[in-house]
Amino acid sequence: MDHFLYRDGQLMAEDVPLAEIAASVGTPVYVYSAATLLRHYRLFDEALQGMPHLVCFAMKSLSNIAVLKLLGDAGAGMDVVSGGEYLRAKAAGVPGDRIVFSGVGKTREEMRLALEGGIRQFNVESEPEMRALSEVASGLGVEAPITVRVNPDVDAKTHAKIATGKKENKFGIPISRAREVYAMAAGLPGLKVIGIDVHIGSQLTELAPFEAAYLKVAELTRALRADGHEITRLDLGGGLGIPYDRGNNAPPLPVEYGEVIRRTVGDLGCEIEIEPGRLISGNSGVLVSQVIYVKSGEDREFLILDAAMNDLIRPAMYEAHHDIVPVVEAEPGLEQAVYDIVGPICESGDTFAKARSMAPLASGDLVAFRSAGAYGAVMSSEYNSRLMVPEVLVSGDQFAVIRSRPTYEEMISRDSIPSWL
Ligand code: LLP
Repeated sequence: MDHFLYRDGQLMAEDVPLAEIAASVGTPVYVYSAATLLRHYRLFDEALQGMPHLVCFAMKSLSNIAVLKLLGDAGAGMDVVSGGEYLRAKAAGVPGDRIVFSGVGKTREEMRLALEGGIRQFNVESEPEMRALSEVASGLGVEAPITVRVNPDVDAKTHAKIATGKKENKFGIPISRAREVYAMAAGLPGLKVIGIDVHIGSQLTELAPFEAAYLKVAELTRALRADGHEITRLDLGGGLGIPYDRGNNAPPLPVEYGEVIRRTVGDLGCEIEIEPGRLISGNSGVLVSQVIYVKSGEDREFLILDAAMNDLIRPAMYEAHHDIVPVVEAEPGLEQAVYDIVGPICESGDTFAKARSMAPLASGDLVAFRSAGAYGAVMSSEYNSRLMVPEVLVSGDQFAVIRSRPTYEEMISRDSIPSWL
């Protein structure tokens, strides 16, 4: 459920017509619904009721500080993967004891930043990282709380580029070596081992892979406790998928996912953390774009939009499907047109959809890409020297620009010409 619905023929973001935002801010523009963000966060929070838990939003999916403040004020923690994300979370007012630090390549500078600013835990992914963190923490005279991310070698049954829990993936330490790695961690100064971390992939549409991974984590918890480690916290990662294609079968709900957690690790007395990104932010955002031209090719019609692959790269990068709908609802009974929907960038990969049936559109009409809140704006770039796409947050009948579109001068002024040229 989201808050982008047609009312009187107009696609709304909560109580604001998207056309009004487009007129005021221009296009392309990302628009987020505060009510949808909060609703999705709360679904996870409720799914874990009865167990001590923290829902850490995977802010890599949507990292605007206004969104982080909204979720942080509602009680969410944050899963960060870089110094930049850590500082964004802090700038949004999220306390350090609600921030977990993930990622295979944390640098010593990033470790120092987080230890000095306050951190809930590091999810450590290798022995060299463990040694580096031990040295940095000892140097600062503090103890770094850690979990070790284990790679359970489970097939997440998702797109290869976003699967992370198979042995060929770079993530985590092989679960078969976990006991020796925990023994090493326990012997290093400056580290306090508190738990286990796992994340097997993104856009999972079945629960079975989660169940398989969490059963392995439960077994490991018992083994590590028998070895004398105090395992009090389990970070179970993110990854629950969303229905990108509204016509087709929907992935499981957060409440069903919560049941898997209860069933597999609920009896261990551990504090549970999860790191959902996409399910909180995905359907909370749309990308609004305007048709520049409708062009007739030899055998097809091209809908050329003012949004391009630099604004939303998911179709080009993962062959991802996004529903694309008109902002002004089509007359009922109108004959459908079929379009290849493309952007203005000079490569054929700049294609959002092929042979898509939809109501006929004309130059100047507005469309909205659904399910664009996650991995949309955060993966945008200035390719072709296109300006970075702006972002707007809606709450009820109010909206605010939460990242403005830069001017061409601002974009160009970040370059500099050396004196010797
Ligand atoms: N935790 C960790 C350690 C992760 O690596 C990720 C996502 C998450 C949590 C959140 O997963 P989610 O709940 O959002 O599925 N750019 C790709 C997705 C990359 C996901 C990377 N890791 C896309 O557009 O589909």
